[in-house]
Amino acid sequence: MSNGHSRRVSISDLVAKKTRGEKWAMITSYEEITASIFDSAGIPVLLVGDSAGNNFLGEENTIPVTLDQMIMLSRAVVRGSKSALIVADLPFGSYEESPEIALQSAIRLFKEAQVHAVKLEGGGRVIPQIKKLIDSGIPVMGHLGLTPQSVHALGGFKVQGRGEGAQKIIDDSLALQEAGVFAIVLELIPAELASEISTALRIPIIGIGAGAGCDAQVIVWTDLMGLTEKAPKFARAYRNLRAEISEGVTEWMNDVAAGKFPSEAETFH
Ligand code: KIV
Repeated sequence: MSNGHSRRVSISDLVAKKTRGEKWAMITSYEEITASIFDSAGIPVLLVGDSAGNNFLGEENTIPVTLDQMIMLSRAVVRGSKSALIVADLPFGSYEESPEIALQSAIRLFKEAQVHAVKLEGGGRVIPQIKKLIDSGIPVMGHLGLTPQSVHALGGFKVQGRGEGAQKIIDDSLALQEAGVFAIVLELIPAELASEISTALRIPIIGIGAGAGCDAQVIVWTDLMGLTEKAPKFARAYRNLRAEISEGVTEWMNDVAAGKFPSEAETFH
């Protein structure tokens, strides 16, 4: 299947989808094989998320992920795809200190991995960084609500924006749009709040654990395909690849032990 584009999906294609009221999907990818599968399926945007930390690299959360790791994973995703727009996360520690450091980090992702946009977490506090990147020609996606790089400050993976916190997320969304981000991820916030923001803003709002009223949805691919042992409540597993892989490898291991693999047809003489 193709996404209907012979070129890469562009930011204006995503804004046009919002104008037409067309919902779309973004999925994480951390290497070449899934990138090529998702790209061929027609997914318009692939996110090289720093969720690679806890879904690919065996870390407890996203905090230890380095810029060098993000560059390596992002390069593989760019190489595996032809049509999708590739967005890479700026990992924790690569942008907070100053707009200049944020620019150096984003330039490395652009030059060494050749991604098409970067994503960073936070509201008002990262506006100078966002402006610096956009002024330098680097498209930026924002991320508000539950921002996993701040998990310790937030006291865990909890729903954000309930009660008084709602206004702060609305204000941050408007500030990010004003600063020029092309889209915002809203993670783990009440559906009503996410819907209100999606209606109020002209840029696409991408939800994860933020209800059905967003312009787009993003999911971590290992949650979607049933590879994650303990997926979050908001993720739906469309396949059970963990069981499939386990059964397949056990069958092969037993065949090896029984002398049934390789067969004559799999042997050279
Ligand atoms: O790192 C990531 O995969 C993300 C998504 C969960 C939005 O930021």
